[in-house]
Amino acid sequence: MFVTIGLALDVCPANTTCQGPLATKFSASMNNESFVLPTKLSMLQAFFSNVGGVYTTDFPANPPVQFDYTNASINNNLPLLFAHKGTKVTKLKFNTTVELVFQNTAIIGIENHPMHLHGYNFHVLAQGVWIMHCHLDVHLPWGLATVFVVENGPTPTTTLPPPPADLPQC
Ligand SMILES: *[C@@H]1O[C@H](CO)[C@@H](O)[C@H](O)[C@H]1NC(C)=O
Ligand SMILES: *[C@@H]1O[C@H](CO)[C@@H](O)[C@H](O)[C@H]1NC(C)=O
Ligand SMILES: *[C@@H]1O[C@H](CO)[C@@H](O)[C@H](O)[C@H]1NC(C)=O
Repeated sequence: MFVTIGLALDVCPANTTCQGPLATKFSASMNNESFVLPTKLSMLQAFFSNVGGVYTTDFPANPPVQFDYTNASINNNLPLLFAHKGTKVTKLKFNTTVELVFQNTAIIGIENHPMHLHGYNFHVLAQGVWIMHCHLDVHLPWGLATVFVVENGPTPTTTLPPPPADLPQC
């Protein structure tokens, strides 16, 4: 899966005092889909009891369009600003291996998004460079961070491998 992540805008409901010239509020999305929690039934109950209408299984494996993900002038074009809202999931067969590439965008503005998956382990395949930072999101762009650059060890398995040939380019 190739998943763009970033902020988005949402039209304000009627009779609210929304800020801004377009009467919009912040939202956020992955692949132009902004997640909405179900209200009728929990997703686990819906899955176990096979109840329809709680979620759909069409979370997109790719963004709807390719663009220069880090160019703020392109990222603030209208089709990227307003995301679709829904409770979309990805259904996986038992014991599937999934390669997931997260691509940040500059939609609305550049933010950091420390993504996190429940229930499974993320395996970091290789890293030579480790950031040490304050976990309050807003303090990171203010500069509360530094980096440890760890040099290669003496063996092939302790040496940073080159990036894969199909590493997505900006
Ligand atoms: C970003 O996009 C704008 C609008 O298309 C373009 O003029 C500009 O050259 C782009 N900047 C870079 C660094 O590609
Ligand atoms: C993102 O979703 C919104 C709302 O459905 C839609 O208007 C917009 O065209 C979509 N953007 C792209 C790039 O497909
Ligand atoms: C899961 O897949 C791996 C790799 O194909 C296989 O070795 C393993 O036996 C599978 N596990 C189960 C519980 O099916």
